[in-house]
Amino acid sequence: MEKANTEYIKRLSGYRIVEHWLNAVAFALLVITGLSQRFHEYSISEWIILSLGGIDTTRIVHRTTGVVFSVLTMFHIGTASFGVLFRKWQPTMVIYKKDFTDVMDNLKYYFGLTEHPARCDRFDYKQKFEYWGVIAGGMIMIATGLALWFPALVTAFLPGELIPAAKALHTNEAVLAFLVIIVWHIYNAVFSPEVFPLDTVIFTGKIAKERMIHEHPLEYERMFGVTLEGHGQGTPEETTPV
Ligand code: HEM
Repeated sequence: MEKANTEYIKRLSGYRIVEHWLNAVAFALLVITGLSQRFHEYSISEWIILSLGGIDTTRIVHRTTGVVFSVLTMFHIGTASFGVLFRKWQPTMVIYKKDFTDVMDNLKYYFGLTEHPARCDRFDYKQKFEYWGVIAGGMIMIATGLALWFPALVTAFLPGELIPAAKALHTNEAVLAFLVIIVWHIYNAVFSPEVFPLDTVIFTGKIAKERMIHEHPLEYERMFGVTLEGHGQGTPEETTPV
C-alpha cells in the first residue's frame, strides 16, 4: 500500500486503528439490522432479515451490537476526558476560533485568491466536524435506543410521549448518519482527489510526509521543530476554544 521512495510519518497508534475498525463494524451492523427493520417492505430488507434467521434474531443482533457500540462510545469519551484532564493529552479535537478562519482561508485558496491553503494542526475543521457529529449522533442513538429498549422503565419517570419521539429521532438520525457516512466520509476517505484511490492512514497508521506538510503543517512544525517555507506564514494562530 505504501509507495516506494516516499517518506512516511507515524500518525495513528495501533489502538486508534483498532478502535476505528471496531466502530466501523458495529456501525455497519447497526445500520444493516436497523434500517432493514425500518424499511422492512423492501425485498433487500426481507432478504437481510431472513438471512439473519428472522426478525427476532435481527432484533437481538441489533441490541447486542447496540451495547457494543455504547461501550465503545462511552469508553472513548471516558478515556479522552481522563487523558486530557489528568494525563496532559493534547485536546486536539477541541474547536478553536482558528477553525472558522481556516474555513474562510481555504475558500479563498480554492477560489485562487490566496497562494496557500489554511495552515491546519493535527485535525482540520472537516475532521473535527465529523468527529463531533459522530459523538453527538452516537449519544442520540444510545439514549433513544435505550428508550426503545426499556420503554416501561423510561415512562415510569418521564412522559409517555417520549417513546414515539425517541423512535422518530432514532430512525431519522439513523438515516442521516448512514447518508453522512456514505456521502461525506467515504468521499473523503476514498474518492477525494487528495487521497484517491484510498486513504491508507487508517490501515497503516502512517501518513506521507508531503501530505502531512500540506494538510497538517502546524503539527509538522511542532513535531520537528522547524518552520516550513512556502506553506504560508504566520505564528501559531489564536487557539481560544469556542
Ligand atoms: C448508531 C447506530 C444505530 C443505528 C444506525 C440504528 C438504527 C435503527 C433503526 C433504523 C431502527 C428501526 C426504527 C424503526 O423501526 O423505525 C432501530 C431500532 C432499534 N434500535 Fe437502533 N440504531 C443504532 C444504535 C442503537 C443503539 C446504540 C441501541 C441500544 C442501546 C439501539 C436499540 C434499538 C432498539 C431497541 C430498536 C427497536 C427495535 C427492537 O426492538 O430491536 N440502537 N435502530
